[in-house]
Amino acid sequence: MSELKSVTNDGHTLAPMADFVKQANLNLEQVKALRLKAETNYTDFWGELALEHIDWHKPFSQILDETNAPFYTWFADGQLNVSYNCLDRQVLTQPHKTAIIFESDSGIVNTISYKELLVQVCKFANGLKQLGVKKGDRVVIYMPHSIEGVVAMQACARIGAIHSVVFAGFSAKALADRIADTEACYLITADSSNRGGKKLPLKTVVDEALLILATKSRIKNIIVHKRSDEYCYCEEGRDIWWHDLINNQPDTCEPEIIDSEHPLFILYTSGSTGAPKGVQHSSAGYLLGTILSMRWVFDIKPNDIFWCTADVGWITGHSYVCYGPLAVGATQIIFEGTPTYPDAGRFWKIIERHRVSIFYTAPTALRALIKIDASLPEQFDLSSLRLLGSVGEPINPEAWRWYYEVIGKKRCPIVDTWWQTETGSIMLSPIPGVTPMKPGSCCSPIPGIMADIMDESGNPVERNNSGSLIIKRPFPSQMRTIWNNPQRYLKTYFPKEVGNGEYYVVGDSAHLDNDGYFWILGRMDDVINVSGHRLGTMEIESALVAHPRIAEAAVVSKPHEIKGEAIVAFIVCKGSLRPIGAEAKELAEELRLWIAKEIGPIAKPDEIRFGDNLPKTRSGKIMRRLLRSIAREEEITQDVSTLENPAILEQLKQKEY
Ligand code: PRX
Repeated sequence: MSELKSVTNDGHTLAPMADFVKQANLNLEQVKALRLKAETNYTDFWGELALEHIDWHKPFSQILDETNAPFYTWFADGQLNVSYNCLDRQVLTQPHKTAIIFESDSGIVNTISYKELLVQVCKFANGLKQLGVKKGDRVVIYMPHSIEGVVAMQACARIGAIHSVVFAGFSAKALADRIADTEACYLITADSSNRGGKKLPLKTVVDEALLILATKSRIKNIIVHKRSDEYCYCEEGRDIWWHDLINNQPDTCEPEIIDSEHPLFILYTSGSTGAPKGVQHSSAGYLLGTILSMRWVFDIKPNDIFWCTADVGWITGHSYVCYGPLAVGATQIIFEGTPTYPDAGRFWKIIERHRVSIFYTAPTALRALIKIDASLPEQFDLSSLRLLGSVGEPINPEAWRWYYEVIGKKRCPIVDTWWQTETGSIMLSPIPGVTPMKPGSCCSPIPGIMADIMDESGNPVERNNSGSLIIKRPFPSQMRTIWNNPQRYLKTYFPKEVGNGEYYVVGDSAHLDNDGYFWILGRMDDVINVSGHRLGTMEIESALVAHPRIAEAAVVSKPHEIKGEAIVAFIVCKGSLRPIGAEAKELAEELRLWIAKEIGPIAKPDEIRFGDNLPKTRSGKIMRRLLRSIAREEEITQDVSTLENPAILEQLKQKEY
């Protein structure tokens, strides 16, 4: 503990461990050289890396094209296939290497080699082609976290179809919205998924989604992977079993040659408005970002057992389950279940059982496990670990220290990785073995990434003052646009006020300390980060006001010990007075279930308060700052003189049930 006691939020750092330094993929000199190269010749820096790390069908002649900025293109006249880069090239050199070790919710283990995975992907890709799926078609994937989930994504990449994975915890309504926005004609799902000892009927949710879409649905076929023996409704002519589709398919499938900028996938994420944004990624640039971060940040080696715990339904599962690990030929774990089933030792048991060496998870999971039993990991052999990673939200220094001491036994560097759905791959992180760490700081941009902190008008901010995190130069793995909405892309990420629209404004506030370390403070827009998942307050508000009894809703966040942030909803009912006592309790429960149906269980408010009105200015604007203070039970110090109805504050402070 002594060495860590001196670690404060500023000034003191923890030097890289000598044993790790000796074997690290990058040393200090190499990092300096990479940074210098990026500073002096930015485009060649990326061009050389792209040639070194990607197998091209046709190499590119131009690296970055800024003509149509900020609709940048990278390596635009190059051609490749992403699935070839993830599978075929591994099969050429190490066909029998294990690609994936899958552990089911109940503990059954299946492993698949690169050669076997390629065969599965080819058969499934041939099946998709037989159904008529073509290059550029959108395919929605609503699958459990599974080998088949990865096969489905890789098969789309193989034939140039654009996948859009929807996390299998989203509701039928949320799924329907995403199917409609992508105008997909094909959907891949499973009859059910198993998580935490519970079976979730995925196909039933899909059927419901199509009922919601009714005549607006363009879905021609639904491919269903059979996960259980229970009855599953199948619509003749539309629904087809996965095993029937791949039966008798050839086990090779020529990869479709595609342009670098061809969209690899669309992934929806929450923003400031009610409708989630379809973040569109490219093929080559995205792939390059995932490969470099696997090497530089995760220090991946041929014998590693890599485990990223994120579901394939999120960006972390795209980049560090489906694409990054396979593109570097790693062996990885896919775990279907949850950290606390059958007990809170599950993660540690998996690490012990499969000799995991690199472990990447979210602070929220660590906090939950610390709360249940901080000393439980001591019962397991965690000696195989050599590197730990964190993602999705700021890691509080206490959780960091526990991770470092109890899980990593002070031997393993921790990479606190900051990035987003939009950036595609890790942007800020310590380079293990090189960067001295500070608990709670994601340290600095990785080589090639030019980050800074600015105020709202685009002026630099002094050290230790908070401002808006921006990325100054385009980078290969960044999103290309918002699907079907280029205007929203421009407005959200490249506001004119900041650097005349040249900088990518990420939407987080941050500060730089005296050592030049970045500290992420949180979102600046109306996005709440619940357990590392982004939810838009507007999205939840729209869902609440869709309930027949609700007239108005305002959603804010408050800090939460485990989830990071919790959702608090303030509600005004239609017509009559606000409900109190048992009636309020009953309606609050009904609304929580309503939200689970409209969006998904992750968006259920922790707390619901009812009022006769909401605090508003005389022009009718809801004063959310005040609601935030009420939710956090803070004293209201703000000026309330502009309020139309100051008395409402007292009413909203009362918890009625
Ligand atoms: O606010 C930042 C937070 O998560 C947001 C991105 O969320 P999403 O697109 O869902 O991607 C999550 C996984 C990459 C960011 O804008 N965030 C992510 N990583 C960190 C973080 N905040 C602090 N520290 C991190 N390491």
